Amino acid sequence: RIAFVNGRYLPHRDASVHVEDRGYQFADGVYEVCEVARGHIMDLRRHLDRLDRSLRELQMSWPTERRALQLIVQEVVRRNRVHNGLVYLQVTRGVARRDHVFPPPDTKSSLVVTARRNNPTAAQTNSEKGISVITVRENRWERVDIKTVGLLPNVMARQAARLAGAAEAWFVDDDGHVKEGAATNAWIVTAEGTLVTRPAEFGILRGITRAVVMEVAKRQGLKVEERSFSVDEAKRAREAFITAATTVVMPVIAIDGTPVANGHPGSTALALREGFFDEAE
Ligand code: PDD
Repeated sequence: RIAFVNGRYLPHRDASVHVEDRGYQFADGVYEVCEVARGHIMDLRRHLDRLDRSLRELQMSWPTERRALQLIVQEVVRRNRVHNGLVYLQVTRGVARRDHVFPPPDTKSSLVVTARRNNPTAAQTNSEKGISVITVRENRWERVDIKTVGLLPNVMARQAARLAGAAEAWFVDDDGHVKEGAATNAWIVTAEGTLVTRPAEFGILRGITRAVVMEVAKRQGLKVEERSFSVDEAKRAREAFITAATTVVMPVIAIDGTPVANGHPGSTALALREGFFDEAE
């Protein structure tokens, strides 16, 4: 495997960053994960748009020009011969003597790009089985709209899910409403067949897969409502599912041990999953 680190393509095992990198010391960095399907990097433009927003919100500079980054991402995918898999990119505020305030303005931001393969058949099989989720209290900061590498609450929540035999944890706000998963957006399907997902303005990451799935849903003639839903409503829903670049559309078959409907993946989720691969640019 090959990784791109600060201007160089290196064997993956030699790909490392400096001990004084601010990503390492302060989680002072942002990232993106894109899905690669049949050799195509899905929605790269939208991911770079979101990266731009994350960088701006944190007053961080681009590590290269946007066009150059796009070429690097494509080159890392090519060099690793990733036909189906993921590409990861991370930008941090660079290497500087440890000090909480921003480093001198001439400090170059760090850039890492890696890619890995996955097995599309296994992913498809998983989606036909569905996953369980647990719920946990929201304990993240308010700026979860920024895709930062500061993911400790997400790590703790995912681990709690794992220990409970589930694949994802949903963060729940003080009103009992579902926010999103540790690394996915959350959705339900009502008895009328309407898709419901939390508005992106209220304490979640604006998922790229979420946006694409909305377009797929409209094309399939489904109604989409952007509103909050409670854990109780989700448990009583006709279907539930999650979306992310890593999972695309993944049916949820149980919430905190309560089966969703008959405890099998719903047909809406599975149809959206198929539609996703046609819609994405
Ligand atoms: N996570 N919400 C959170 C908190 C996320 O971390 C992610 C993505 C999403 C879904 O966004 P998208 O559809 O753009 O992937 C929602 C990535 C995949 C990760 O951390 O691995």
